[in-house]
Amino acid sequence: MRLVLGISGASGAPYARRAMEFLAGPGRAAGIETDVVFSKTGRLIWQHEIGTDPASHGLHIWPASDLTAPFASGSARYDGMLIAPCSVGCAARIAHGISTDLLGRAADVMLKERRPLVAVVRETPLSLIHLRNLTQLVEAGAFVMPAAPSFYSRPETIEALLDTVVCRALDRLGVDNDLMSRWSGMEIRREPRSE
Ligand SMILES: Cc1cc2nc3c(=O)[nH]c(=O)nc-3n(C[C@H](O)[C@H](O)[C@H](O)COP(=O)(O)O)c2cc1C
Repeated sequence: MRLVLGISGASGAPYARRAMEFLAGPGRAAGIETDVVFSKTGRLIWQHEIGTDPASHGLHIWPASDLTAPFASGSARYDGMLIAPCSVGCAARIAHGISTDLLGRAADVMLKERRPLVAVVRETPLSLIHLRNLTQLVEAGAFVMPAAPSFYSRPETIEALLDTVVCRALDRLGVDNDLMSRWSGMEIRREPRSE
């Protein structure tokens, strides 16, 4: 399986870091190859929120300006793309077919080739324009997943909280993972009696 990880300029670079850690570790061991592309602002936000060199994960990182990357063409037959975090500007450009950089072009290719495109969108509040663009993305076949963690697996660390989002995003791409405990029904919680 070959995937593209796009990292745009929304807050939420830790989601991208967790996805890179998984894809470079268990993902690679399971035979998944991952190509990474940052938007120009995505790099800046990564530097601010993470600060480490993203190349340290050992995944191939393409310059956003390099439209010669294999996944800029449908003929390369990549299997899917995750954009995490996805800015509303990035979502808007994809929804309107404006692919001026490699990240946008890769997303455009996924939609036209009917491959899974998962956008972990981060913005709040959402304007009517944002919502209409996200609707158009879903109509075009993308999965829009708000960068909104869940709590039913009782995450105790920020990493575990991030994984509740990354797990479900990887699920949509068909990537087997156990980043969070899956819901298996309500446990009966026995509270100590007060008397
Ligand atoms: C600190 C910081 C945080 C930002 N957070 C968000 C955000 O959460 N969501 C968003 O859509 N844009 C956010 N932005 C604005 C985007 O970076 C800006 O719209 C940029 O043009 C997006 O570029 P890109 O879509 O090419 O990555 C943020 C900008 C800064 C400087």
